Amino acid sequence: MVIFKKAADIEAYLLSIRQKAKPVGFIPTMGALHSGHISLLQQSREKGDFTVASIFVNPTQFNDKADFDKYPVSIDEDKQMLLDAGCDVLFLPSVEEVYPPGDDTPVYDFGHIDTILEGAHRPGHFRGVGQVVARLLQIVQPDRLYIGQKDYQQCMVIKNLARQLPALHNLDIQICPTMREQDGLAMSSRNRRLTEPQRAIAMLLYQCLVSIQAKAGTQPFAVVQKECLDILKEKGFEPDYVALADAGDLTLLNDYDMNRRMVALIAAKIGDVRLIDNMVVN
Ligand code: PAJ
Repeated sequence: MVIFKKAADIEAYLLSIRQKAKPVGFIPTMGALHSGHISLLQQSREKGDFTVASIFVNPTQFNDKADFDKYPVSIDEDKQMLLDAGCDVLFLPSVEEVYPPGDDTPVYDFGHIDTILEGAHRPGHFRGVGQVVARLLQIVQPDRLYIGQKDYQQCMVIKNLARQLPALHNLDIQICPTMREQDGLAMSSRNRRLTEPQRAIAMLLYQCLVSIQAKAGTQPFAVVQKECLDILKEKGFEPDYVALADAGDLTLLNDYDMNRRMVALIAAKIGDVRLIDNMVVN
């Protein structure tokens, strides 16, 4: 695995790879890697891509400075995991490489998607995601981009970004399934910050999603939503939302509509750790 810290160096290196007509697959991450991240890498490898991963804890997408300061960092373990998984290139840039001083990074507008759910609860977050993903894609210029359904709304933001940028119209965006722990908890770098008692109940988010899915079309969503909110609060979570939306455009739904594909989305804080998860309902 070759490691690059400078944008110009990785750009030059990938140019030679492209001349060999090998498709480039890209997995952007913020590190503190787990099997969910590695599953994206495996999908890229299975497709026969030349596989590039990046680790960059992007300051512009953290609306909460404390969350940024506490974001877990485990670079040595991350490198080993990537090496073991057969990653070809790791891009490990500094803030100055991603956001060169004096270089105005464009800001993208995601309209409706940025006003609801994560957009509403984390103002500026998706602007930061759009900014960094656009910049990383400009540097790596992959043929395929691998992202996780775990961050459902982020997937929609990135698809929207690809529509906004003519250079990305041919980008093949692969949305990969959410990897979970045995008890159902979605793998997340933030899980490392959970205390033992918090970890023991964190799978409640998953259980809420399962019950929303199981009760689809049999009970009003408002009833199921209230059950979920009540149980989460009773166990000590601070839920931000338990929501149902159209899986295609993320229009929020007041009730189940079995004629459309729906997704249930959930976000809750436990102590000072904020967790999100989602599940396609039908
Ligand atoms: P990060 O949280 O490190 O996630 C990197 C990629 O891994 C994202 O596409 C995310 O959806 C995916 N992922 C996370 N948990 C997963 C799981 N349990 N199963 C499958 N895939 C999972 O998302 C980001 O970083 C950043 O916002 C980024 C896109 C890198 C921009 O800074």
